Amino acid sequence: MTVKDIFETMDYGTAPESAGEALAWLEARGGIAGNYVDGTWGPLRADIDVMNPATGERLAGLTKSTPDEVATAVAAARKAQPKWAKLGGHKRAKFLYAIARLVQKHARLLSVMETLDNGKPIREARDVDIPLVARHFYYHAGIAQLMDDEMRDREALGVCGQIIPWNFPLLMLAWKIAPAIAAGNTVVLKPAEFTSLTAMVFAEICTEAGLPKGVVNIVTGDGDTGAALVTSDVDKIAFTGSTGVGRAIRAATAGTGKSLTLELGGKSPYIVFEDADMDSAIEGLVDAIFFNQGQVCCAGSRLLVQEGIADDFHRRLIERMSKLRIGNPLDKCIDVGAIVDPVQLDRIKTLMETGGAEGTVHQPCPAPEGCYYPPTLVTGLHGSSMLMQEEIFGPVLVSTTFRTPAEAVQVANDTRYGLAASVWSENINLALDIAPKLVAGVVWINGANMFDAAAGFGGVRESGFGREGGWEGMLAYTKPTGKAVTIKPATKHLKPDAVAVLDLDRTSKLYIGGKQSRPDSGYSEAVFSPKGKLLGHASLASRKDVRNAVEAAHAAKGWSKATAHLRAQILYYIGENLSARSDEFSARISALTGTPSGKAQAEVDDAISTLFTYAAWCDKYDSAAKPVPMRGVALAMKDPVGVIGAFCDDRPLGGLIDVMAPAIAMGNRVVAVASEAYPLAATDFYQVLDTSDVPAGVVNILTGSHSELAKPMAGHMDVDAVWSFSSADLSATIESESAGNLKRTWVNNGKNRSYPARDWLAHSTEIKTIWVPYGE
Ligand code: NAI
Repeated sequence: MTVKDIFETMDYGTAPESAGEALAWLEARGGIAGNYVDGTWGPLRADIDVMNPATGERLAGLTKSTPDEVATAVAAARKAQPKWAKLGGHKRAKFLYAIARLVQKHARLLSVMETLDNGKPIREARDVDIPLVARHFYYHAGIAQLMDDEMRDREALGVCGQIIPWNFPLLMLAWKIAPAIAAGNTVVLKPAEFTSLTAMVFAEICTEAGLPKGVVNIVTGDGDTGAALVTSDVDKIAFTGSTGVGRAIRAATAGTGKSLTLELGGKSPYIVFEDADMDSAIEGLVDAIFFNQGQVCCAGSRLLVQEGIADDFHRRLIERMSKLRIGNPLDKCIDVGAIVDPVQLDRIKTLMETGGAEGTVHQPCPAPEGCYYPPTLVTGLHGSSMLMQEEIFGPVLVSTTFRTPAEAVQVANDTRYGLAASVWSENINLALDIAPKLVAGVVWINGANMFDAAAGFGGVRESGFGREGGWEGMLAYTKPTGKAVTIKPATKHLKPDAVAVLDLDRTSKLYIGGKQSRPDSGYSEAVFSPKGKLLGHASLASRKDVRNAVEAAHAAKGWSKATAHLRAQILYYIGENLSARSDEFSARISALTGTPSGKAQAEVDDAISTLFTYAAWCDKYDSAAKPVPMRGVALAMKDPVGVIGAFCDDRPLGGLIDVMAPAIAMGNRVVAVASEAYPLAATDFYQVLDTSDVPAGVVNILTGSHSELAKPMAGHMDVDAVWSFSSADLSATIESESAGNLKRTWVNNGKNRSYPARDWLAHSTEIKTIWVPYGE
């Protein structure tokens, strides 16, 4: 008998981890999980049963917090915040280090508790979740230490409401709490109702670390409690969970001035080229889709395999799947554990019953009785099949084939999501050619599901907005220093009593796709000087003009690929041409606003300086290589956002240049709606654009009513971000209309403040994290 024979006949012996300590921990605390507010426990009520999904046994009772109880927690956080922020980065860093060390010290309890509560294999809780939690606190201790120097012009937001899902209960808690408190915020966090137990252990760790009371507050409960937190007196909501709830939170926070980040679902492609190292690609795929039973927002759930190797790849994959061990998650030898809750198991089953027949279902490794679902591969699907499009959130891999790299990109991007992607090829040229073409916030080259605190994580499209991790993640927990001042809208000079007659027809048109075009409405509005002199007519754009301008901006996508050097040259050129016509513009500004010529000239000078500033930034807003603790680097590439719709402030020229310059410097295309009160300087600017080699469609300018145009702009599915600095407060309209495609928004909430260049640049870019093998 050979060793191979022995291995094949030997029965596998279980290696279960004991649940004793964790169960004793719960019992010692009365078997109830509930709120931790202002450093104190309570209320503790057994409103909801917390179950162990692997066994169906009840683990504990859970408090469902009422809106009043949420408000109490928010008040505690509010009270504690100023003092916590004033403590300074170094002192906050010490607390974060202490928490990191205590997480390590209690690693075993935390791992077992996580597995009991969630059903994930202990191997994963022990080797992935908990070490990453500690790493997150260490990393952000460092951020706290450095931020007083490195982020001088930013400060904490205040109180952050944080709502997390059940798939990585403690890890998501760490992703939320560590950056928030590092920056000087205080938090009220609501864990998911299925999985609140490790948050309880964490609360005790906060006490043990001596964290000042009220800095970290935890409220337990279900969606109702989450909804109460969203509408409570917090300054920010950070949410991870389903796209549906994310959309509801977007709508609920619209116009409230609360800052928002959303980490939502995904249907991430896993692309295998025929020259990939097949064995590695198969192991990577096992990690991508069966890790955590596939309940991972960035799971590589959509396999795209090149046609020539597809049959062989599927055969090998099925063979590998047949070797997976599924069962008791406390067993250290288990690969696939339990599904978090019977509700989620039903969701998976229903999706499979509805869509499975469209392809061939392979389940080579049967699941035990109970809350388990077998690792599944569905082959023979089309890109548009329901199972290819819907997030299943279970151990189900769907597969399709492609022939060429271009087709791979097209199929990969054929989704409403944009969270992550994996590319497998031994040809670095091919992999690095494909990575930038994938619409995703994270791309792994020859890898999957790699995470680190130093590397930004987050999505585009309906996968949400905002990044977690790295310096980029800190933007979401800070705001620029300095006071915001309530805007006093400029006076629109209305028609005087006597009808003025123009000697020449001076009706300015709209500027769409590099051409002047008449507004679809056929309407225009007379523009007068403060003294009642008719200065001309401005077109009144309508919904249709917004559509045309967005279409033109889309067609100009070549701009996003233009080199930074070229973009810089064009911005300098615009600046020069504006300089040459400086007198004319300053006279126009004076005529429109009635401001003295010196002040008008200053606005023109500022505009020129802004153009030069962003010309300079084009090739200096560097991407970064993050030193992640793995065999690789994570490149944080600063990509353009895409098409940005922007409502300008009241300054005739400055309002336009402020939004246009950074946006186009970073490779975006813009649809700008000019100052509503004083539109005619922006329309004069068409000629400057025409003479400055700006490609058609890169800058489109509309004039008209901001409040009428806000809705179609924010609701447009092909607009990637909307900004508003308008004196008409468009914030509520823009934020609620943007819920459709969950586009990024940047609105002023009726207040003015000046932003440093780096803020403009950050809003003009999307960080795409590309993990590349590097070194040994
Ligand atoms: P969910 O989005 O309903 O729950 C996530 C968190 O939001 C939980 O803490 C929940 O209590 C809270 N919540 C629910 N309704 C809320 C509301 N109206 N306002 C504020 N907070 C609210 O996710 P669920 O029901 O647990 O899972 C459903 C599906 O969502 C899954 O099948 C999966 O497709 C997706 N999902 C995606 C996750 C991700 O990381 N992207 C994580 C969890 C679920």
